Amino acid sequence: MSVAVITGSAGLIGSEAVRYFAAKGMHVVGIDNDMRKYFFGPEASTEWMRKHLEATIPQYQHFSIDIRDHGAILELFKRFTKEISLVVHTAAQPSHDWAAREPLTDFSVNATGTLNMLEATRQFCPEAPFIFTSTNKVYGDSPNALPLVEQQSRWELDKSHKFAEHGITEAQSIDHSLHSVFGASKVAADVMVQEYGQYFGLKTACFRAGCLTGPNHSGAQLHGFLAYLMKCNVTGTRYNVFGYKGKQVRDNLHSADLVRAFDRFFQSPRSGVVYNIGGSRFSNCSMLEAISMCQQISGREMNWQYGGENRKGDHIWWISDIRKFQSHYPGYALQFDSLAILREIHDRNHERWKDSSRVVHA
Ligand SMILES: NC(=O)c1ccc[n+]([C@@H]2O[C@H](COP(=O)([O-])OP(=O)(O)OC[C@H]3O[C@@H](n4cnc5c(N)ncnc54)[C@H](O)[C@@H]3O)[C@@H](O)[C@H]2O)c1
Repeated sequence: MSVAVITGSAGLIGSEAVRYFAAKGMHVVGIDNDMRKYFFGPEASTEWMRKHLEATIPQYQHFSIDIRDHGAILELFKRFTKEISLVVHTAAQPSHDWAAREPLTDFSVNATGTLNMLEATRQFCPEAPFIFTSTNKVYGDSPNALPLVEQQSRWELDKSHKFAEHGITEAQSIDHSLHSVFGASKVAADVMVQEYGQYFGLKTACFRAGCLTGPNHSGAQLHGFLAYLMKCNVTGTRYNVFGYKGKQVRDNLHSADLVRAFDRFFQSPRSGVVYNIGGSRFSNCSMLEAISMCQQISGREMNWQYGGENRKGDHIWWISDIRKFQSHYPGYALQFDSLAILREIHDRNHERWKDSSRVVHA
């Protein structure tokens, strides 16, 4: 039996990875304690996805363990030991804003939780590739110092800059910048994942992601940008745009495209590598452009307002250069651009959202 251990298995990326590796015939051990509900409230709970996975995937086994519980994690790894051939670690506290409310909780989940996973891998299945979902926030707000030019609907990088054509590479410094408490806890985890590759020789990779999205995101105001935006559009909920005139640019990666990248690494792993991964030049949009796409897809006006202040440490412009990953894994290409992603989010959820808003407003 080949076992994939997937943390955050009911979340956006975790659940995509569960389905993908189960479909490849692996036995999937999922770890998720629905802490997303604690972070962002009942509307962001991933309980529905856990039930769905358990009901539809026979070789899925769920464990409601907290990744901060060192003893419980070791016990679980001991139980499956050398049968574990892959570890995908996606469980996290994923929001800037939330992290500032409870820095200790944020750090214990993001940094200590990651160390627990690495150590369990080192002790029980050191040959298993270890995939970590890091973030572009490890670069802090340093990309905001790039020479940006204001256009009608977006900020753009000055054409003469070396990152203009393909986006920001891994050469961007992670130092001398404001990270937010969240960014700092992810840096700690990211560096430790690299270290377990460099120092102990584990096959570890950090995927430093831009915006990750897809129809299975339990979008909430503080996390899950496109899913939450489309949900607001469908339910008529007012959406607040924070700062930068609404022209801030994000690159958007479909969870399925990310998990295909995980599989390429799994098939041919390396040690202690770092990759920027995101929608790249292929899939990106500004806030204003995203609102316009939502309206185009749903045929409904967006109820939104502009709040002048940007979120602390928020990027003005981020587009990932993914060519390092593509050079290590030739033939890897993205399938979903931002419009296709938004359309799928809409088509798969609008009935459910309309129903739930009717219940809430009844
Ligand atoms: N979504 C994005 O835009 C984005 C961008 C860059 C990086 N990332 C990173 O990708 C990863 C996955 O993101 P996502 O969007 O799938 O997040 P998500 O919130 O949808 O999923 C994470 C899951 O982890 C679970 N979890 C949280 N704390 C836990 C704990 N202590 N023990 C066990 N389970 C716990 C949550 O309940 C949730 O189901 C995270 O590490 C995040 O930082 C996400």
